[in-house]
Amino acid sequence: MTAKVIDGKAFAAEVRAQVARHVTRLKQENGLTPGLAVVLVGEDPASEVYVRNKGKQTVECGMTSFEHKLEADTSEGDLLDLIARLNADSAVHGILVQLPLPGHLNSDLVINSIDPAKDVDGFHISNVGLLGTGQKSMVPCTPLGCLMMLRDHHGSLSGLNAVVVGRSNIVGKPMAQLLLGDSCTVTIAHSRTKDLAEVCRRADILVAAVGRAEMIPGDWVKPGATVIDVGINRVERDGKTRLLGDVAYDGAAAVAGAITPVPGGVGPMTIACLLANTLTACCRANGLPEPEGLTA
Ligand code: GUN
Repeated sequence: MTAKVIDGKAFAAEVRAQVARHVTRLKQENGLTPGLAVVLVGEDPASEVYVRNKGKQTVECGMTSFEHKLEADTSEGDLLDLIARLNADSAVHGILVQLPLPGHLNSDLVINSIDPAKDVDGFHISNVGLLGTGQKSMVPCTPLGCLMMLRDHHGSLSGLNAVVVGRSNIVGKPMAQLLLGDSCTVTIAHSRTKDLAEVCRRADILVAAVGRAEMIPGDWVKPGATVIDVGINRVERDGKTRLLGDVAYDGAAAVAGAITPVPGGVGPMTIACLLANTLTACCRANGLPEPEGLTA
């Protein structure tokens, strides 16, 4: 069996096109332009690339992009003041503080100072609680992207065995909540899980989000399973820098029913879902119906 390759790049382009169509309508019918503010503290090169891409795609979708680049030694007070101004600004519908923050800043405190209605990352404790209790929330972008691809491939996920490998607040835990919300039987596995191979082999849906290159070999994949690989690991091999997932792709693709490649799978969906969340936040803030198919 050779797996169907789930094309995240094409899927993300479709999500962005859908967002752009909604934005055009919001402007014409309601005189509204969704706005996304991105805050970057310090000069982490990978974060600068992300922030540039976010800004570019925000504008391409017809939204307003606000970028705030702060010095690495910015005080917590100054950062909290900026967030308070963005919370109060009616042109800003989404606020994203790029992580990781420099060590002297308390990330939890900073994230929890964002208005939950503008928390397009879905990291605020209120949104985490709302998601965990099955209430309407802002949903973290990467797991939302994975859910969209899974729904598209399977239709209904009801009753399927889902195994999420990784327990981070950004991916593993919210992914598990979303799968539970779609009536999967969910296992969260991690580096301390006993017989991880056996646990993975039970999965109809296997989501790998551990951040270790090729940690999951092909013989851990159940024949016909859907494999969602969230890992993006930079590895030096044969004198070249390569991007590898958490799953050993060739071996897994030989047995899986469907699989996301790295790169070109989950990665492009994250920013697409950030734009979708900004649109959703703008609609909710103005008492308008939410865009269909772009939320959990
Ligand atoms: N850094 C890496 N990924 C993310 C993300 O999804 N959101 C934020 N805020 N920072 C990140």
